[in-house]
Amino acid sequence: MRLIHTANDLRAALAGQTGTAFVPTMGNLHPGHVSLVELARQYGQPVVASIFVNPLQFGVGEDFERYPRTLAADCEKLATAGCDLVFAPDVTEIYPVPQTFTVQPPDDLASDLCGAFRPGHFSGVATVVLKLLNLVQPRVAVFGKKDFQQLLVIRQLVRQFNLPVEIVAGDTLREADGLAMSSRNGYLGPSERIEAARLQGALAVIVAAVRAGERDFEALCSTASRHLKMAGWRVDYVALRDAATLQSPTPDSARLVVLGAAWLGSTRLIDNIDFALGNLA
Ligand code: PAF
Repeated sequence: MRLIHTANDLRAALAGQTGTAFVPTMGNLHPGHVSLVELARQYGQPVVASIFVNPLQFGVGEDFERYPRTLAADCEKLATAGCDLVFAPDVTEIYPVPQTFTVQPPDDLASDLCGAFRPGHFSGVATVVLKLLNLVQPRVAVFGKKDFQQLLVIRQLVRQFNLPVEIVAGDTLREADGLAMSSRNGYLGPSERIEAARLQGALAVIVAAVRAGERDFEALCSTASRHLKMAGWRVDYVALRDAATLQSPTPDSARLVVLGAAWLGSTRLIDNIDFALGNLA
């Protein structure tokens, strides 16, 4: 596996490749990322992973500085997973001049849910993903469903800018107690780690109720929110949406997704469960 730090070396290494499968990451890799690399291997070759903590997608006071940088350990995991090339640029390599051109995703997607609590976040994600796709020029790019809203933003980015890449979604990997794997789980103290599984549990209760015929979605979400708050969480949102659009479900919605974001102490966790319902009518 090759480790490359500059855009020039990346272009040289990938010259002539037409079947590249790409997994963009911010590093601090866990088994969820490894599963995305394994998925990428089924879609193309060479498999390229990027490791870049993108300052543009972090707001003031967020965890950009403390986000763990673990390049050596990440490279070992990527090599074992069958990655062929790692692109790990410095900030100045990706942003040699101030990034005054940015991608602005539409408000209904980018200022809703996580976007309402992290202004500018999805613009930062869309901008860096566009740059990374331009640099790597993959045939396929793989993103985790754990960041469900991000996945939809990227699908729209690719569609509306006619980018010649297929987006593939990888399932969320979970710990034994149901907690979605995330780099940010490492911030949790021991008692918070035990408590953290409650977020997934609260979302699963909503899924079960909807499947059993409950249709008062607002009541379900506010009950889940209340239970989390009673257990000491600070809740940003719990919401049930159409999985294809992230808008409120309609009678035609075939797939739904229940999403939640909440804080345990100084750690913000997100999770979601998407599920088929036929339709709601
Ligand atoms: O999901 C992530 O790790 C990041 O948001 C991404 C897609 C690598 C862009 O920085």
